[in-house]
Amino acid sequence: MRHRFHSICPYFAMFPETFVEKHLAASRFNGVVFDPFCGRGTTVFEALLNGREAAGCDLHPVAVCITGAKCNPPTREDVVLRLAELEGSFSVLPPLILAEEMADFFAACFHADTYEQVRFLRASLNWRDDSTDRFIAALCLGALHGESHRSPNYFSNRMPRTISTKPAYSVRWWRKHGYVAPCRDAFAILRGMIDFRFHTPPPHNRGEIAESDARQAMTAFQHLEGKVTDIITSPPYLDTTNYREDQWLRLWFLGEDPKSIQAPDDGRHYNKVLYWAFLKEAWEGVAPLLAPQARIVVRIGGRKLSKEEMFDSLLSTLKGATGRHVQAVDDGVTTPVKRTQANSFRGAKASPTVEHDFCFIVG
Ligand SMILES: C[S@@+](CC[C@H](N)C(=O)[O-])C[C@H]1O[C@@H](n2cnc3c(N)ncnc32)[C@H](O)[C@@H]1O
Repeated sequence: MRHRFHSICPYFAMFPETFVEKHLAASRFNGVVFDPFCGRGTTVFEALLNGREAAGCDLHPVAVCITGAKCNPPTREDVVLRLAELEGSFSVLPPLILAEEMADFFAACFHADTYEQVRFLRASLNWRDDSTDRFIAALCLGALHGESHRSPNYFSNRMPRTISTKPAYSVRWWRKHGYVAPCRDAFAILRGMIDFRFHTPPPHNRGEIAESDARQAMTAFQHLEGKVTDIITSPPYLDTTNYREDQWLRLWFLGEDPKSIQAPDDGRHYNKVLYWAFLKEAWEGVAPLLAPQARIVVRIGGRKLSKEEMFDSLLSTLKGATGRHVQAVDDGVTTPVKRTQANSFRGAKASPTVEHDFCFIVG
């Protein structure tokens, strides 16, 4: 069931909706579907499409904006009206004082006219508190950067669509190849996007999304205590990506200062022991939400971990965190990772070549 909201904005390490669809069909439960690392919201949105109650959280503002837009959308009419209002009130904002590297980046990334529209939208959209603004912000995130030489629907000079390349690197690359930012009308692109995305009406039921650490899921979703029967999730992989630095331009659009866009460096992203300690804490945060019987599906990868190690560590962290009986459904299904744009930029070394899908029943 492919809905056009699914692809509002690409996201690194997203799983396909068919993966969620398959596991929803395999589940014999019918309670709340939950994703504690929801990313672009594939699990939550697909669950809503399948008529299920669903919720999710993520630490990352980009993930929260995209997932919130899909799972709590405004009406098409509201989006059209708000965009017209924004366009009608468009004005050039006073110039920003930027460090030289950032000034060079923005001058090369966006045509001057497009840049003024992008800055205006960035300053005007109240994406955290208003669902219509959040939907427009999510459309902007999807259009902010990409292969603009191939598609007229990106605002930027050519860039990968999944990750934002670092400012100095991008400028060097554009200059070396003589690439120039295209003149794009952001409002016109957004109007086209609204028509495209609302081609099929969104589901009537709504999902609940929190900007929260998975380790605090119980605090964010107290009312779901004991109600979650299906978790379908993919935690950050060991030694693979830095979600904040890879998404720095989208985070900038959502109001962050590029200087502060760094990942918390507590070792859990590259140290095995700390990684599993982190995952155990995440399961502890989620454990009170679980129903008496629940199915937990985890897609996971990482070049430094064997399949057996992942299976054993998942099983033991789940048992330790829930204090309940946990049974594996199988040994895990392994699939090759497709060569993505983000992987090519990072080099093959940094990306896992396979992912494993593990399924457990907690009783
Ligand atoms: C592999 S991605 C999930 C992708 C998702 N399945 C999709 O289809 O888009 C992992 C996600 O975990 C999030 N994350 C990392 N640490 C987190 C934490 N402590 N709590 C909640 N989310 C976290 C990252 O921001 C990222 O969005």
